Amino acid sequence: MADQDGLKVAKDYHVEEAFANNGGFYVKGAGSLDWGMKKHLANIFDPKSGNTVMFAFDHGYFMGSTAGLERLDLVIPRLMPHIDCLMGTRGALRTCVSPDNRKAIALRVSSGSSMLNEDLSHEVVAVDIEDSIRMNADCMAVQTFIGADGQLSSIDNLSRVINAGLRYSIPTLGVVAVGKDMERTDRFFKLATRIVAEMGVQLVKTYYCDNFEEVVAACPVPIVVAGGKKLPENEALTLAYRSIQGGARGLDMGRNIFQSEHSAEMAQAIRQIVHEAYTDKQAWEFFQDAIH
Ligand code: 5RP
Repeated sequence: MADQDGLKVAKDYHVEEAFANNGGFYVKGAGSLDWGMKKHLANIFDPKSGNTVMFAFDHGYFMGSTAGLERLDLVIPRLMPHIDCLMGTRGALRTCVSPDNRKAIALRVSSGSSMLNEDLSHEVVAVDIEDSIRMNADCMAVQTFIGADGQLSSIDNLSRVINAGLRYSIPTLGVVAVGKDMERTDRFFKLATRIVAEMGVQLVKTYYCDNFEEVVAACPVPIVVAGGKKLPENEALTLAYRSIQGGARGLDMGRNIFQSEHSAEMAQAIRQIVHEAYTDKQAWEFFQDAIH
């Protein structure tokens, strides 16, 4: 392992230069993958915009019934027309989502946390590759805790899922967690997203931060941005707009959709930013027109 003496600070991200090695396939870093992997990624990322609207409702895996998700069976069908990808647990999908939907599936496969324990950083791989195949998953989501006590075990979980995913051509979604003690800086996200990408995931979920375009430039696979805690709708739309402008290939919002009083209109407004190049102001006007 390279020693850390005299490490130079990385600074040449060439953010204006497009990713150079795509091998003709539109999803970043996937040029050398096989047909099956590419098909799953094409199910997630729209070939026209290259982007995705993921709706995250996997919070129950460690938060139980979260505000706004008390009734998954009622919430999800209402949002279905406006999203591209369902991010949930196998329990939520099998019990509350009809299999006749045509959406991509981001299956939450890591687990082991709950709101009752302080340290959320120790998880296991809870869903095996056979059940991911049964669920027709288009990617398998694994929480990674870079810099936390559970770092080694979370990278071990991630590597096991990547290895199985490569065997059966199912992409892995590396979820960069930010525990309460973790810094939400570009320095942390550059480190964490790059580590996860170098472990071999096909896509990464993380949070927006300052210098986000450098985080994107340094990550050789697509990044989707999690919404985080509930914001006023106009601020959430600005977060979505800045993420896409900064190079994110989509949003994976949960609370900023399902905790909005107008969740369907919020999903629609986010879709306008992700796929129709709306600015946040245009999306905000769209949202206000839709709710009145
Ligand atoms: C929960 C998750 C969520 O998928 C992710 O945080 C997106 O949801 P939100 O926009 O509510 O943050 O990983 O563990």
